[in-house]
Amino acid sequence: MSYPYQIKSLEEYKTAYKKSEEDPEGFWDDVASHFVWRKKWEKTLDWNFIEPHVRWFLGGKLNITESCIDRHLPAMGEKPAFIWEPNDPNDRVRVVTYNRLHKRVCQVAQMLKNNGVKKGDRVCIYMGMVPELVYAVLGCARIGAVHSVIFGGFSAQSIADRLYDAEATFIITCDGAYRGGKDIPLKNIIDDALIGNRTVKKVIVYTRTRTPVSMIKGRDVWWEDEMDYAETQVEKDGVVHFPAEEMDAEDPLFILYTSGSTGKPKGVVHTCGGYMVWTGYTFVNVFQYQPGDVHFCTADIGWITGHSYICYGPLTAGATSVMFEGVPTWPDAGRFWDIVDKHKVNILYTAPTAIRSLMGFGLEPLKGKDLSSLKILGTVGEPINEEAWHWYDEHIGKKKCPIVDTWWQTETGGVLISNLAGITPAKPSWATLPMPGVHPILVDENGKEVTEKDEHGLYKGNLCIKNPWPSIIRTTWGDHERCRTNYFATYPNLYFTGDGALKDEEGNFRITGRVDDVLNVSGHRIGTAEVENAINMHADVVESAVVGYPHDIKGQGIYAYVICSHIHGDEEQTRNNILQTVTRVIGPIAKPDKIQFVSGLPKTRSGKIMRRILRKIAEGEKGNLGDTTTLLDPGVVEEIVKGKL
Ligand code: WT7
Repeated sequence: MSYPYQIKSLEEYKTAYKKSEEDPEGFWDDVASHFVWRKKWEKTLDWNFIEPHVRWFLGGKLNITESCIDRHLPAMGEKPAFIWEPNDPNDRVRVVTYNRLHKRVCQVAQMLKNNGVKKGDRVCIYMGMVPELVYAVLGCARIGAVHSVIFGGFSAQSIADRLYDAEATFIITCDGAYRGGKDIPLKNIIDDALIGNRTVKKVIVYTRTRTPVSMIKGRDVWWEDEMDYAETQVEKDGVVHFPAEEMDAEDPLFILYTSGSTGKPKGVVHTCGGYMVWTGYTFVNVFQYQPGDVHFCTADIGWITGHSYICYGPLTAGATSVMFEGVPTWPDAGRFWDIVDKHKVNILYTAPTAIRSLMGFGLEPLKGKDLSSLKILGTVGEPINEEAWHWYDEHIGKKKCPIVDTWWQTETGGVLISNLAGITPAKPSWATLPMPGVHPILVDENGKEVTEKDEHGLYKGNLCIKNPWPSIIRTTWGDHERCRTNYFATYPNLYFTGDGALKDEEGNFRITGRVDDVLNVSGHRIGTAEVENAINMHADVVESAVVGYPHDIKGQGIYAYVICSHIHGDEEQTRNNILQTVTRVIGPIAKPDKIQFVSGLPKTRSGKIMRRILRKIAEGEKGNLGDTTTLLDPGVVEEIVKGKL
């Protein structure tokens, strides 16, 4: 397979960027023509950022699985789509060819149909990192059901909220999932999430860990039984067939829940046509994928990175991906390097938090590991500090591998700002240049473009995007107004990212982090309000305030200031009870790193918590806390500083 839309030089990047500015519709018509469509679109783009209303490839008909699977079968059917590396390094590796993927996806589609799933139905997927997860995702896409994958680190309560919001009618899960030394009882968590649920009709359970599960008659069915039966329906005389549902370019493909600065997580909606084009286009350009390369994205499919760069993007390119079930530090901190060596990985895409954590183990875990297959390295999810960048460059890439620092978000569907590996220059800790078709702008708090440089000769402001790209968020599920207020209302006519950034003279961007109340803990997004609500559910808690603070490995840690009515047992016990409450309400990923008990919180006279002050204290600032004269009770600040953990 060749990629006519692959940019091969700096010159070509400049030309592509210019064309995308001058004639965006012509530019995307051309890129999109290299994907499989049942019917060509009538209009390329229709948009305004007021409602917002964004539609790409209007009238176009397709099924994304035909670009991801069917088109590769004649020439590359026996080529591996996935090399699955199990949690336990001594277990059997599974290789999934494109032919096998096709068969399994057809079976899942048939199985879903047999169980009553129809186009447009929402299917919640809560599974570990097994190949069956990819089959489930693509099986939904094949029949036009909207998948909503939930990461295994979320609690029953979080799942229940998402099931309710999406009005999901089906669930695909596993008995359990292996993650390092742990065995997470996924089906039991689903059972808890389903108490009181009124929409879910069927739960399909894949067997992975053989942990005991309760199967409820009439509701729960085994994946294996259903798939065996479906096989007899989709395969005739050795030929596998399940017709893909014809979808409109703007039909929803999936919902993925993500945290914002207020309220419960919102369901980000991506649509079939634009998402396909953007993930495919960015995959071959950012990573400069060449046919035959082995790509290893270490993310979980429960996050957008896994959706776009394990599942859809690589598959549109007919790529071979490593899919890893486990964690980077189990059974030891050499696991990634073992996998690179064992599967001759060419492209490694991971998070700064993983690099920093592995860096902490020194060079010992690298001994004896042949990393010479590596050609390109990538990072995603949070700003990468220069120390981690250089360690990655020196010890993993041996200074021969370009590092791409890819900036994007759940809402953007795919990479918006990044260097293109080996094509456009890298700059440590800078995401660098926008992709063709993306026009970023830095604005001040009044929404005016920043035109003055700061003392370092850089432009500094809030990062917005001026125009729509094909995989921009279309809506937040069930609540379009929320989409408008969250992303399009802060600055009129701009998409606001929630990030702050710097820009240099050459137009390179450096992302400095969130400017809203969203935390980025180990590359996972968590809203401070969400964590506060969870803490406040604990019976002994009166009020709380949560802020982020710099954390050596996680990037940001969670710092909670908590007022209790009384301390049950001792402070340590109360702390643990609060942690348990957060685990129950959101999940273990939202547990605060530090809990400081306080008798009051710094508030303005109108009762608003002054987070700015709390953030500074958590960062270790003692003296310069800014203006505290407007506080209701300046005395509490002193007490909080004294009690800092
Ligand atoms: C937030 C989005 C994109 C997939 C993973 C996270 C931060 C992301 C970078 C980067 C600095 C980054 C931003 C962004 N972020 N990539 N290369 N450099 N910051 O997706 O959970 O939607 O989070 O992650 O703050 O807004 P997400």
